[in-house]
Amino acid sequence: EQTLREAATNRDFRIGAALAARALRSDPSYWKAARNEFNAVTPENALKMGPLRPSPHTYDFTDADAIVDFGRENDMYVRGHTLVWHNQKPEWFQAWDYTDDQLRKFLRDHIHTVVGRYRSSIDAWDVVNEAVADDGTLRETVWYDALGEEYLDLAFQWAREVNPEADLYYNDYGADAINEKSDAIYDLLERLLERDVPIDGVGLQFHALAGRPDPESVAENIRRFQDLGLDVQITEMDVANAVDDQPEDPLAEQADYYREIVEVCLETDCDTLVTWGVHDGSTWLRNFKDFSKRYTDDPLLFDDGYEPKPAYDAVKGAL
Ligand code: XIL
Repeated sequence: EQTLREAATNRDFRIGAALAARALRSDPSYWKAARNEFNAVTPENALKMGPLRPSPHTYDFTDADAIVDFGRENDMYVRGHTLVWHNQKPEWFQAWDYTDDQLRKFLRDHIHTVVGRYRSSIDAWDVVNEAVADDGTLRETVWYDALGEEYLDLAFQWAREVNPEADLYYNDYGADAINEKSDAIYDLLERLLERDVPIDGVGLQFHALAGRPDPESVAENIRRFQDLGLDVQITEMDVANAVDDQPEDPLAEQADYYREIVEVCLETDCDTLVTWGVHDGSTWLRNFKDFSKRYTDDPLLFDDGYEPKPAYDAVKGAL
């Protein structure tokens, strides 16, 4: 019986998991599942600005290195997440009274240092994460407030400058199918391309509920971005059920939906799907208050005891 990793590799498909350094170090079952069942990894938090930048002039690469090394040693595709985001900024940032110019220089140094360090070990970067608000306008982040829309141009240019080999992605949630937000992202990326900004692809986070969004609309959405010349990857997938609307067999619904989305990937030549964690015991949904009331907390391919779930068989079967 082949593993999920083998099934994926045989089809030139990348099936990934978001990883935490602490679990890799302390939990042999987690380590084994990550290595045996996946051929791609994304550090779940370790490459974000907050964890990386304990103070304005220092970096702490310990956890990021551990995960990236794990990926490289085990012959996995490594996604870097993420360089520019409005969340998980360093704590000291709050009290920093910067000028726009200082912020620009800070971001440039950050991108140069981080992308440079992993020049030979990170294959793809989520350069900008979640720049578009749910209503389709550009989110008013510290980056936007200081630099305007150009912060995206700069971030992609700085990343490309240091590592011309890495593929550079714009990543967002709630834009998996055709909707107002993905329309806005489409327009944004079209503008970037018109300005010759070095962007290679778009990451669809895909934090989903079983059955939603409609797979056909997802396929149509993937195709329109591909028609712009962009690669499309599914970067943070998990599939929960709605707490107040539980189907009779939630695990079967979840499995069906995973299968449908993998089929959409294969149909559209979207060759990378990363799940946001290894097993249900490591899902972010258990700590994210916004979701935890409405979403079930078992959205991944392995259960709390690392047993493969119906969703695991569904994904493997579809590959
Ligand atoms: C989440 C992590 O999974 C959590 O551990 C952390 O506390 C908050 O961030 N969109 C993203 C990811 O782009 O970085 C987020 O990850 C989940 C939503």
